[in-house]
Amino acid sequence: KMKVVAIVGSIRKESYNLKLAHYIQNRFKHLFQMEVLSIREIPFYDQDIENSPPQSVIDLKKKVAAADAVLWVTPEYNSTIPGVMANAIDWLSRVDKVMVGKPSWIVGASMGLLGTVKAQGHLRDILFASGISSPLLPGNEVYVGLVHEKFNEKGELTDEPTRQYLDLVAENFVKWMKEQSRLKQIQTA
Ligand code: FNR
Repeated sequence: KMKVVAIVGSIRKESYNLKLAHYIQNRFKHLFQMEVLSIREIPFYDQDIENSPPQSVIDLKKKVAAADAVLWVTPEYNSTIPGVMANAIDWLSRVDKVMVGKPSWIVGASMGLLGTVKAQGHLRDILFASGISSPLLPGNEVYVGLVHEKFNEKGELTDEPTRQYLDLVAENFVKWMKEQSRLKQIQTA
């Protein structure tokens, strides 16, 4: 089974994006095994220590390196991705560059109507940067707007159209992810 790690761009306990990550983790456990990584302990990126980073950064890089793909679950802060997520990406983009060639999947939830449209546009650009170079499945964009109306008090995603759309996108993603790993095998053979 494919292994996916999720990086959530919100570190607050009641984060809707964290809830979305957990929904995806549970809903699609027949398709892939997913671990939600914590970026709470990741310090500010500092080039002075990039070759001997703290344990939290070593662990993050190790888990990303071992995964078949990364699921980015992004909120939108001031029309872009949150600083904690940009910071994690900066670490991942340096020294061993564990993201290079690793497939990504982007989803995001916000209270606004447009559901992280702007943040995801920026994130796609960032993932294209040379230190990251992460392939993305075209189309299949997941924008969960008005998120506070789509989860119940128990933290469950109850919005049926969103659930159905996610089913479709997850299936597409897994198919594509398998193609990507087959391609990689051919290239390295
Ligand atoms: C926001 N929020 C927000 N929403 C949005 O749709 N577009 C935006 O540009 C912003 N900007 C923004 C900036 C900052 C600093 C905060 C704290 C919030 C609202 C945001 O969608 C809402 O707080 C979400 O609940 C954040 O995601 P989590 O923490 O629930 O995962």
